[in-house]
Amino acid sequence: MNSKAFFVTRRSFLKKCSLAAAAAGLPAWFVERDLAEAAPRPKRLGPNDRPAIALIGCGGMGRGDGANAMRFGDLVAVCDVDDTHAAAAAEQYGKNGRTPDKYNDFRKVMERDDINVIITATPDHWHTLINLAAAKAGKDVYGEKPLSLTIDEGKQMVKAVHKSGIVFQTGTQQRSSDKFRLACELVRNGRIGRLKQITVWLPAGLRDGPFSPSQPPQGLNWDFWLGQAPKVDYITQRCHALWRFWYDYSGGTVTDWGAHHNDIARWAVDLLGPVSVEGEALTQPIPGGYTAISDYVINYTYANGVLHTVRTTHDDSIYGGVVNEKGQRNGIKFEGSDGWIWVNRAEIEASDEALLSTPLPAGAQRLYVSNDHMGNFFDCVRSRKLPVAGVETGHRSASLCHIGVIALRLGRKLQWDPAREKFTGDGAKEANQWLARKMRKPFDYSFAGA
Ligand SMILES: NC(=O)c1ccc[n+]([C@@H]2O[C@H](COP(=O)([O-])OP(=O)(O)OC[C@H]3O[C@@H](n4cnc5c(N)ncnc54)[C@H](O)[C@@H]3O)[C@@H](O)[C@H]2O)c1
Repeated sequence: MNSKAFFVTRRSFLKKCSLAAAAAGLPAWFVERDLAEAAPRPKRLGPNDRPAIALIGCGGMGRGDGANAMRFGDLVAVCDVDDTHAAAAAEQYGKNGRTPDKYNDFRKVMERDDINVIITATPDHWHTLINLAAAKAGKDVYGEKPLSLTIDEGKQMVKAVHKSGIVFQTGTQQRSSDKFRLACELVRNGRIGRLKQITVWLPAGLRDGPFSPSQPPQGLNWDFWLGQAPKVDYITQRCHALWRFWYDYSGGTVTDWGAHHNDIARWAVDLLGPVSVEGEALTQPIPGGYTAISDYVINYTYANGVLHTVRTTHDDSIYGGVVNEKGQRNGIKFEGSDGWIWVNRAEIEASDEALLSTPLPAGAQRLYVSNDHMGNFFDCVRSRKLPVAGVETGHRSASLCHIGVIALRLGRKLQWDPAREKFTGDGAKEANQWLARKMRKPFDYSFAGA
């Protein structure tokens, strides 16, 4: 059978699907189980038990997360080191004559006993300190991906969440998408035979520069924004939204888009991590410009022999939008001995439609059902159950990306011990030095009270 996206083209198959399944491009058997067996979709909380929420980091994603969370709770505080962003967020979320309180220092937010939930949507280099402070204060956290800037930070987070008993959801919302869950369930249950190769396509990063320093905009506390990262002059391209192309604050698109697609690869493989990783830069950054390698190939190997390749594409934009319609979309391809499955946010396809349309047998391995990532978090805030993307999931998937960045920066093959969370063998000494970073004072772990 051919490999076209058959859901829209094959009427016979659509007939078998419920209306909902057809609309979502999913087989009926899969959706029916969701409707019949899954936990009910998150309900709105009653007027008397709506949690009080604080949003920390009021940029592009934070503003979206805040609006999303307001379906389930009341946004009572916003915090940003840029006054302009905090003010815009406060105005956006104000309702019925009540405007959220504004803060610049997240530690003040943690002092408020009336706040139950923190949304952390700062750049990656601030995630851990804010999340550690929230755990210490006993507040539940919806923390944007990637969980951490380094593997050491992720380990600290896992410990802190366990110790405090807070509910933590990593903002990898693809775990709450039925397309990705279907792909992972099929792969895990051997639908494509023995899994051999996973190929993850990520949007390429930006390669630009050199850039010139300028005065920080009024209202932005640049030193606080830099936090643990080295002290440098303000450059527009280092700051809002573009920080993700600098290794001081991020891992480039390996940890940006990779935090989503590599997480799905790991969900299907069902292992803590690979045993080897090799990175190759296809271009080098421009001196004085963005530092993160924009075009690359990373090859991981798992203990069961599965290969996992990560490649960049220029055919989708850094926001995931289509640049070249005929080109390579970002997404994940699973190839096995008996066929393949391709999945991304827009579609799921297979080498043979029967691979998707044939129901899994009774007793097949099924995965955690969540169809609303923010809703699943607030459900768990009430039930105290583990969310679909808990801290260990966030940590292990971020670690997969981090070791990829380390191999890429060192330009070599490395052996990884996922149980001990250390590199071993040739090159291990140098690579292990990248597991943690020197944090600029006073923005080290003690800043979070940890
Ligand atoms: N889940 C997703 O699909 C998705 C999509 C985009 C971004 N993200 C994640 O969301 C986070 C934010 O990304 P963005 O694109 O919105 O970045 P952004 O630069 O637009 O916004 C970040 C905001 O955090 C503020 N900030 C920086 N340090 C702070 C601190 N110490 N305290 C309070 N505020 C601080 C900045 O001033 C800015 O307003 C990142 O971790 C990113 O990876 C997730």
